[in-house]
Amino acid sequence: MHIMLLGAPGVGKGTQAQFIVDRYQVPQISTGDILRAEVAAGSDLGRQAKTVMDRGELVSDDLILQIVEKRLHEPDCAGGFILDGFPRTIPQAEGLSLILKRMGDIELHVFEIDVPDEEILRRLMARGRADDRKETILNRLEIYHTSTAPLIEYYMARNHFNRIDGYQPIEAVAEEIEGVLQTLAARQVNS
Ligand code: AP5
Repeated sequence: MHIMLLGAPGVGKGTQAQFIVDRYQVPQISTGDILRAEVAAGSDLGRQAKTVMDRGELVSDDLILQIVEKRLHEPDCAGGFILDGFPRTIPQAEGLSLILKRMGDIELHVFEIDVPDEEILRRLMARGRADDRKETILNRLEIYHTSTAPLIEYYMARNHFNRIDGYQPIEAVAEEIEGVLQTLAARQVNS
């Protein structure tokens, strides 16, 4: 099972990834979590990333692609993985496509989780992470709409793609995703 969760900050990618991890025992690859761990460890990468993340901007594509390729070659990814918050730009998507080709033409199922910006602002202001200040959230949203939202068309044209309404209770979103995953699993068994 190879899944990508696509969507703006705060739509619930991390929350939904946890349900899939528990149900299917595949690791969640969150570039945001990896970067926050580097910041906490005080590594060179963490120091570089911190300034960018505090402004709500994107870490460079080259750096992100190196981090992800290394992570996807770890043994726990052999049976599948969930990409959460990656890719975020067209160059990252193109880089990912080459990585997946090198790994044996892995096919991704893409879920776009959709939530109105006003609700995102409400959720993130309530969460209170270091990058959840109002100005930073608005900047993250703007960057999402300019740099990441074009990935919706990119993946609609190339991959299995489902849009999920993320503006409903957490369990209802999880059920909608699980319904799609069960249909896919049944199709694979029958083919
Ligand atoms: P990252 O950690 O990926 O942050 P993000 O994409 O902004 O995502 P969030 O964690 O804020 O939101 P989420 O969709 O996971 O929602 P969550 O489940 O937490 O990235 C942080 C930074 O790192 C970036 O700004 C960038 O600088 C850098 N970075 C990371 N990846 C990068 C990349 N690929 N390239 C370049 N730079 C990169 O939920 C949010 C809140 O809402 C929670 O409190 C949750 O409880 C609540 N919630 C969730 N679902 C619901 C629901 N259905 N109803 C009500 N509340 C809900």
